[in-house]
Amino acid sequence: MAAVFGLGGCVTARNAQSAPKPGIIRIAHCGDPQFGFGEGKEKAYAQDLARFERVIEMINREKPDLAFIAGDMVNVAADMERDWPRLLKLFEVPVVGTPGNHDMGNNLTKENVERFERVFGYEYKSLKLGKWRFISGNSQYWRPTNETARQEKYEAWISAELDRAKAAGEPIILATHIPPFVSEINEKDSYENYPKAGRAARFRRYVASGVKFYLSGHTHRLVVRARDGITILNPETTCRNFDQLPFGFRMFKLADDGSYSWDFVRVG
Ligand SMILES: [Fe+2]
Repeated sequence: MAAVFGLGGCVTARNAQSAPKPGIIRIAHCGDPQFGFGEGKEKAYAQDLARFERVIEMINREKPDLAFIAGDMVNVAADMERDWPRLLKLFEVPVVGTPGNHDMGNNLTKENVERFERVFGYEYKSLKLGKWRFISGNSQYWRPTNETARQEKYEAWISAELDRAKAAGEPIILATHIPPFVSEINEKDSYENYPKAGRAARFRRYVASGVKFYLSGHTHRLVVRARDGITILNPETTCRNFDQLPFGFRMFKLADDGSYSWDFVRVG
């Protein structure tokens, strides 16, 4: 991996505001919008929503190649259709959202999957960004669910996507709500990581397939980790940050050689 810059405690939009360069892709990486989770009791939904509307305005001004929303669109899954259909129409750049545990349920249900599909038009998807393959999955399939047929279909899909990208020589940016791990790969099972059973095997599969970056959310605190050539990035949110960092999103700028910046863009 080539030089890394712009990381850790950087609260400038300097790089996010610079002009796009050939060979560089830009992804606006938005942590959990989770309308209704912020401080303010009954006002939380409206405040979180208003903050995210400002995020969309800022993204539209910056015109990245992609806006990626890292899941937990709402705090209560049934609220998904209140504002998201309207919000998605406001984006003037391509946008991909990955389902969060608050969208799917901690044990994924058919009803929640179908609601997400009605709003976003898909549950998971894969697209080409420059030389890169961007794969947005659904991390709720790593947890127990009665929807075993959907789970098997998903596992087959992501396996095929990893194989296809590797065969095509496309380095991969993998994106899901929950990160594989937060501190280190052998950490105990928690609310914040993949189940330990199978975690290392999945990660080895990612390494072997050419995954270079893992963009996620869920932790509501800043996470930057790297292992075996894969960099895991969790940004600030726009609803509640457990590490008390300001609200905002991150502009991920990635060059063909794998060098990147991931600069904070503050949202009031
Ligand atoms: Fe969340």
